[in-house]
Amino acid sequence: MTAIGTFSNTSKVTLRDVLTQLEKEGVALGHFNVSDQVLLKAVVAAASETKLPVFVGASEGEREFFGVHQLAALVKSQREESGLPIFLNADHTHSLAKAVEAVKAGFDSVVADFSALPFAENVSRTKEAVEALKAINPSVIVEGEIGNIGTGSEIHDTVGNEFRTLSTPEEARQFVAATGIDVLAPAVGNMHGMLKSMVQGKEKKRLNIERIGEIKKAAGIFLTLHGGSGTDDADFRNAIAAGINIIHINTELRVAWRRSLEESLKRQPNEVVPYKVLPPVIDSVKQVVSSRLRLFHGEPAGQGAVGSVA
Ligand code: G3H
Ligand code: ZN
Repeated sequence: MTAIGTFSNTSKVTLRDVLTQLEKEGVALGHFNVSDQVLLKAVVAAASETKLPVFVGASEGEREFFGVHQLAALVKSQREESGLPIFLNADHTHSLAKAVEAVKAGFDSVVADFSALPFAENVSRTKEAVEALKAINPSVIVEGEIGNIGTGSEIHDTVGNEFRTLSTPEEARQFVAATGIDVLAPAVGNMHGMLKSMVQGKEKKRLNIERIGEIKKAAGIFLTLHGGSGTDDADFRNAIAAGINIIHINTELRVAWRRSLEESLKRQPNEVVPYKVLPPVIDSVKQVVSSRLRLFHGEPAGQGAVGSVA
């Protein structure tokens, strides 16, 4: 388990340094999406509790709600005040303009997501993004995505057949060579969001571990697993051993946020003070994040994960 103490000067440590170190240790960096300060406080509290590095992410919609510059400023201030290695990712960015905006605001990395386009166009738009973003900040980490893992960290009724198509090692090799990305996000059985049965803990997402290993070998760079919510714990461990470096979790946090908000309001029907209603919400989300961070660092998940109790 990589404690924060591994990184001697957290104010200088880069995302690349952390990814390199964690890969050596056979563990993965947890990435958690936030759309407001309640969720951000929960993620920072989990990093502080576990003493593990953490990756905060916000997709285009989440950034729009939070404010791109406001989120960057808050994460910077949290990092300076706490001394924790907290990094910030512009998740699922579908235009060069939004990617440039995030890098200029100080984000450590960008997911240039053109995966909905045909492969050749995905290659050319991703390559253009890599060149443009690194011209602004040479140390920014750029992730590209191939295959279809769906959109929407929400609760879905059904899973479409398109998620059964896995990325191939050859696609991964070609994509990495042609674009110059630092990190690749493939489709390996993962999908965004959770089925109702997953929220209830009756069903888990299963990953193709063999394919992850083949893609890692062909790509030769860091790999991200998107759509982590509701995934089988053993599959997470095996996926990390096969080459996954970053794991994204979003829906589990949103489920914990909603459940705990409803409970807190119910417990205090006449309360109107936000700082009295919201602390239990922060605590519930923190438990989910801490549990996932521990699992990704080789410890038993413990209590807290959504769907851990049927
Ligand atoms: O980029 C965000 C994630 O891939 C989250 O997926 O909502 O299934 O955890 P999830
Ligand atoms: Zn994602």
